[in-house]
Amino acid sequence: MKHQVAIVDANAQHREAVADALLSFYTVHPYDSSVNAITGMLLSPPNLILVGQRVGTSSGATFIKELRRERSLSALPFIFIIDNEDFRTVDLIRDLGITDYLVKPYHRSALINAISKQLNGRIERSWQDLPASQRKALEGSLTAFNSVADEIASGNPLPLRTITESCSAIVDVVNKEEFGFLFHKIKDHDNFTYVHSLRYSTFISLFGKAIGLPKEQQVLIATGGMMHDIGKMTIPRALLNKEGRLTPSETKLMHSHVTTSQKLLSTNESIPKGVATIVTHHHERLDGSGYPRGLRAPELNQLARMAAIIDVFCALTDRRPYKRALAAHVAFETMATEMQCQLDQELLHRLKEILLDSADTAGAPPPA
Ligand SMILES: [Fe+2]
Ligand SMILES: [Fe+2]
Repeated sequence: MKHQVAIVDANAQHREAVADALLSFYTVHPYDSSVNAITGMLLSPPNLILVGQRVGTSSGATFIKELRRERSLSALPFIFIIDNEDFRTVDLIRDLGITDYLVKPYHRSALINAISKQLNGRIERSWQDLPASQRKALEGSLTAFNSVADEIASGNPLPLRTITESCSAIVDVVNKEEFGFLFHKIKDHDNFTYVHSLRYSTFISLFGKAIGLPKEQQVLIATGGMMHDIGKMTIPRALLNKEGRLTPSETKLMHSHVTTSQKLLSTNESIPKGVATIVTHHHERLDGSGYPRGLRAPELNQLARMAAIIDVFCALTDRRPYKRALAAHVAFETMATEMQCQLDQELLHRLKEILLDSADTAGAPPPA
């Protein structure tokens, strides 16, 4: 579920503005004074703390020093939010050894990005302790994923080779049956589209292995998996994380991620057919109820059917701010009963056998 963020600030207006801005992403705990904050946080430690320039009757800097004296809270990441970037404040920040801070007025997106960066930084640093093959799969895929976002922003072709190389590392982990460790190490990562794409890429390559594809083909479909939702990078995060029903215009915008992905792919001269099939067809359904084209069973080949099954399975078992992750066996039950006419049941049954055979399919910690 949602990460917990504390805002410690004497300024009630700022506390409310922060709670409002973070509503769809995090559970916010507001505190007006250092006593209330330390007491509350000792009972229920947050994942990150936002500290305003005034805390109770003293300063945010004093609060940060108090926080560092509290053993169980001292290692928590925090972001200092200052009113002005004047010399005195900048000196104070430097003396406290703070490198990351925000200056008012800041954009909501700057706040959300700063929080994500801190939360993810801790998780990504923990990857250092993994065996080389797993570290390569995670670091490589995250770098590739971020470089996709950079290339999209600068209007360049997609870095297909970098993505394929990172997917080759994922396939190595899958073939060694170690993917449960990957999922454990990304389960709290805050970039939901990356986590979804990594899980997708892992599951579809496992599916490929089970139907007898050679490694080269597994890497190709893993690459399609990593890129299947790249069009979502152009959709506002608030909409991607929205709780509850979408309005018709929001649904239209969400659905547009498939055509956006196709457009982005077209900037590359040679996109392998398998990659294009996954990107284009993963929301099509056998009964014609899918999008963007409402294709029916005879028009959907085996890979398109696998792509649809993996997308639904990942969506149901992913953790999102607005919902809990379903256990793998519950997801399969839902897909077999409620989506009988939409998904290829024979392939679904095959996936179920492979996945329920592998421990830890939905991302729970691997056995010690
Ligand atoms: Fe999608
Ligand atoms: Fe997806």
